[in-house]
Amino acid sequence: AANKKLLILPGDGIGPEVMGQVQQVINWMDKRRAVTFDVETGLVGGAAIDAEGSPLADATMEKASNADAVLLGAVGGPKWDELPFEQKPERGLLRLRKEMELYANLRPALVFDALVEASTLKPEVVKGLDIMIVRELTGGIYFGEPRGIEDLPDGQRRGINTQVYTTNEIRRVAAVAFELARKRGKRVTSCEKANVMESGVLWRQEVQKLHDESFQDVALSHMYADNAAMQLVRNPKQFDVIVTDNLFGDILSDEAAMLTGSLGMLPSASLGDPDKHGRRQALYEPVHGSAPDIAGQDLANPIASLLSFAMALRYTFDLAEDADLIEQAVQRVLAGGLRTADIMSPGAAKVSTVTMGQAILRQLDQMAA
Ligand code: NAD
Ligand code: IPM
Ligand code: MN
Repeated sequence: AANKKLLILPGDGIGPEVMGQVQQVINWMDKRRAVTFDVETGLVGGAAIDAEGSPLADATMEKASNADAVLLGAVGGPKWDELPFEQKPERGLLRLRKEMELYANLRPALVFDALVEASTLKPEVVKGLDIMIVRELTGGIYFGEPRGIEDLPDGQRRGINTQVYTTNEIRRVAAVAFELARKRGKRVTSCEKANVMESGVLWRQEVQKLHDESFQDVALSHMYADNAAMQLVRNPKQFDVIVTDNLFGDILSDEAAMLTGSLGMLPSASLGDPDKHGRRQALYEPVHGSAPDIAGQDLANPIASLLSFAMALRYTFDLAEDADLIEQAVQRVLAGGLRTADIMSPGAAKVSTVTMGQAILRQLDQMAA
């Protein structure tokens, strides 16, 4: 088979710590599963600013475009927060998403049985939860023009961002949501604020049209995004696939993270259009950020990153069996009572990032034996 080209961008804060554990699993696959990757690493975010003067060098951008999949840790941190907007670490990530046209961001929220108690919600509300948030990732208010901060004649200033969506931007991400729903619970909830925003009206109309044209086998409902935020904590199991815009998707997916117990549990896949072989440009990253409050202390939960790698195996490399193996190893280690601090519960054993990674490797060893 053709070489599997991976670009790893660890980034900042806990990024390198959690990606270190992913690298261990990649090494393990090489040795024990005879699945070999061509791995390159590069700089993104604050790390790239410090070493190369910008949050994403052109050479790294090019490597990302040429890779089969990019694995990213996290970017950002207080050290770079005062930089002008265009130079901030976060711009590196936004550039990757935009230039690779990764418009569909899949953020599954799955509650492992062993972690039912780690959620701040009642066990019966979250037990067995399995939802998929599809967040539009290259449009909307994150990229709309005009934008900026202006001086006004009277000495005040004005900050401007623009929410804008085109028909095609809406249809292509909605198609991804419908196709995913077909393989799951066959239900899509589309979220916007069509009651106050024209872009929301268009969103609702286009999603409905696409449904009626091509996806009548999937049940579609529409929900205002504020209500969706409420329903997610009231009764999250009513949802199967949620499709929504860039900003609402950012917020709803952080909210969904807490249903699973911790932001440290949530993986994501960002996908572009399929090429003629059906392969999509792809970037895989945990939903969480660089967690400056716990960085450098071996405290971070590496599971979101490990599950993101499992998504890469599933969506980019057609290695569903290996993806299952990693997901099962995680599940068994959690069932065995090991917890990083963020998912700690009474009676469990608290472990570090590295120890959690090693336990998952040992579990993989046993399962593959
Ligand atoms: P954050 O996700 O970094 O952290 C929020 C809270 O969750 C913190 O208390 C943190 O300790 C905890 N947390 C996050 N990941 C964890 C893990 N794996 N294990 C245990 N605990 C974890 O969000 P923030 O504090 O709002 O942002 C910090 C920086 O990260 C900012 O610069 C922000 O822009 C950036 N950020 C980057 C990404 C990304 O790279 N994709 C995503 C979100 C935020
Ligand atoms: C995320 C993050 C990013 C976003 C930031 C770091 C640009 O919060 O991936 O969820 O807002 O999309
Ligand atoms: Mn976010």
